[in-house]
Amino acid sequence: MISKYIDLRDKLDFSKLIAPAKAICDGKLVLFPTETVYGIGANALDSDAVSKIFKAKGRNIDNPLIVHISSIKMLDDLVLSINEIEKSLMDNFWPGPLTIILNKKDVIPSNVTCGLDTVGIRMPSNQIALKLIEYSKLPIAAPSANISGKPSGTRIEDIVAELDGKLEYIIDNGITQIGVESTVVRVIDNKVHILRPGKISKEQIENLGFYVDIDKQVLNKYDGKEKVLSPGVKYRHYAPSTKCILVYSDDNKNMVNKINSILSDNPNSLIMCKHSNFTKYNCKNKLNMGDSLEEISHNMFTLLRKVDNYNVDLVIIEGVEAKGLGLAIMNRLMRACSHNYIKC
Ligand code: TXA
Ligand code: MG
Repeated sequence: MISKYIDLRDKLDFSKLIAPAKAICDGKLVLFPTETVYGIGANALDSDAVSKIFKAKGRNIDNPLIVHISSIKMLDDLVLSINEIEKSLMDNFWPGPLTIILNKKDVIPSNVTCGLDTVGIRMPSNQIALKLIEYSKLPIAAPSANISGKPSGTRIEDIVAELDGKLEYIIDNGITQIGVESTVVRVIDNKVHILRPGKISKEQIENLGFYVDIDKQVLNKYDGKEKVLSPGVKYRHYAPSTKCILVYSDDNKNMVNKINSILSDNPNSLIMCKHSNFTKYNCKNKLNMGDSLEEISHNMFTLLRKVDNYNVDLVIIEGVEAKGLGLAIMNRLMRACSHNYIKC
């Protein structure tokens, strides 16, 4: 490994974070864990440091970054105003996997937000992430740790393969807990718009008494024309090179039958399926996604990274009900399959 490696898999020795915090202050890139996925962090107030992130990832310069904070106090310097709904979302879900789009102050360089007058802010719950921000005394801009277009990095092995040498420090905290990126929301006219679904679900936000709208792009293909609230939806993401198809149904038996019929036409396939369906397919290549939505979101990106190692013509992926965390899973799987899907 070329980048400096810090092992925080077992014992949380926070004194090991002093050097990477200093690197953030010096304008360097630091890979750090969050509860969702790993992030490539840089000082959010330093445009030169931020431009290194775009270069390391090969990221489009119109796709803005999320700014991570460790305390509510940090917010005052970064955003103009916070309304009652936004405040309630923070009170209920921070620290945690929720990003809130707010009106930014001028201190945030324009390359963080790609020229937008809004900025996505999140207070993660991972203790290492919080301490790194606290020690550097700076807000940290960080996208998911992957080359643009690839699945987000949830395991150090995958990230090192793509990004080693482009980062000053790599902080290893094992496999990330949730596995999909944060829910991104924006409050417009007293409605909470979900721009990207994640662990914090529509239902959880509705339980606070707010009206929630799911952005049209969440389960539909971007048509290339419409103005989007979240620039990230425009780009190819999560998709392996091998052709993938997503199959889903309200009825498990229907889904299994459909997949078996696709299999009989395409014998050289790989199946990504639930553990409980594992024995129902007569196929030599199978990957186990787990059974609960939590297991599936935790495993999904690691499995998607594996499929190109199999020499198959088709990857058939089982879908889940698009509710709760299931909406986030279906959003990522739809995109992994480039919206090639069958509902039966
Ligand atoms: O869980 C996460 O959110 C991870 C960890 C590292 O915190 N970060 C992450 O960042 O997923 P990234 O850059 O991969 O995704 C950020 C998403 C993109 O879809 C981007 O378009 C959207 O947030 N976004 C950022 N700022 C925005 C803004 N001002 N307005 C609308 N969407 C924004
Ligand atoms: Mg990303």
